[in-house]
Amino acid sequence: MYKILEKRTLGPQIREYIIEAPEVAQAAKPGQFIVLRLHERGERIPLTIVDADPQTGGVKIVVQEVGKSTREMGDRFHAGGRVLDFAGPLGIPSEIDNYGTVICIGGGLGIAPLYPIARELKKAGNTVIGIIGARNKDLLFYVEAMENVCDELIVMTDDGSAGRKGFTADPLREILSSGRKIDRVWAIGPAIMMKVCAEVTREFNVSTVVSLNSIMIDGTGMCGGCRVEVGNEAKFACVDGPEFDGHKVNFDLLMTRQRFYHEEERCALDRYLKSKGAKQ
Ligand SMILES: Cc1cc2nc3c(=O)[nH]c(=O)nc-3n(C[C@H](O)[C@H](O)[C@H](O)COP(=O)(O)OP(=O)(O)OC[C@H]3O[C@@H](n4cnc5c(N)ncnc54)[C@H](O)[C@@H]3O)c2cc1C
Ligand code: FES
Repeated sequence: MYKILEKRTLGPQIREYIIEAPEVAQAAKPGQFIVLRLHERGERIPLTIVDADPQTGGVKIVVQEVGKSTREMGDRFHAGGRVLDFAGPLGIPSEIDNYGTVICIGGGLGIAPLYPIARELKKAGNTVIGIIGARNKDLLFYVEAMENVCDELIVMTDDGSAGRKGFTADPLREILSSGRKIDRVWAIGPAIMMKVCAEVTREFNVSTVVSLNSIMIDGTGMCGGCRVEVGNEAKFACVDGPEFDGHKVNFDLLMTRQRFYHEEERCALDRYLKSKGAKQ
């Protein structure tokens, strides 16, 4: 069992947890993830490692409560409580190097996995331009943390309630159109955002890394659930990724596969909300 050391709310249905998992904390690198199970009847939930402290053994994760299992975690799992499994670190770490000038784009919950990558890119000597975006100001988080690791930070909201009104791809296009030399781009967020950002950078021939959140079950390359198509080849996001060359990813297939279990997911959430109502 893994103890929840801290829990804090970052926004509506967005929570940050620090879980005591010393072996994961020792080995974790930016870009990697864990698979968590709340209890013996729980589903496996893949979640990105946001930070890890080998001294305290604490591993930080940020969870957006989008369905049955993540809602259950938010409702019933608090500091001092324990989760059953916390397996990791999984996946190939981000390729951190001194590229020169990099743009790090985080959309919605994607800001959480982006933050440690931006931080390590800055430590490696890069000039880091951050672009973070959300639907509205309440869903924005880690703004100060990103400011601290970026040379410049551009904040976007769909409705203009914080920063500039518009999408993360807008300033990306402006920067690339200005002729400024950009050596690499990281884009992490909803599949549609990564697709649009990769289309923009393709025009300017700038190498672009995206992190694919396909549906994962075992997280070890055994089940095939996370299959994605990259450069016309089948890859397993859990062991070959989750980061891939954004110019080679078949995003339309990814989005179709992400929707595969929508009906089952909706039924599971309905059942959970009914049982929660019955217990209140
Ligand atoms: C490598 C990776 C890293 C991720 N990192 C984070 C993170 O840091 N924070 C965060 O909030 N979410 C993250 N996710 C997504 C998270 O795993 C899902 O939101 C969660 O599993 C949803 O479960 P649910 O029962 O609450 O919702 P459900 O209603 O079951 O699903 C809601 C949506 O979440 C996605 N999803 C559902 N099950 C899975 C699954 N087993 N694997 C992947 N996606 C799934 C699907 O798109 C689905 O439509 C990550 C996913 C992957 C693959
Ligand atoms: S999650 Fe099973 S193969 Fe990737």
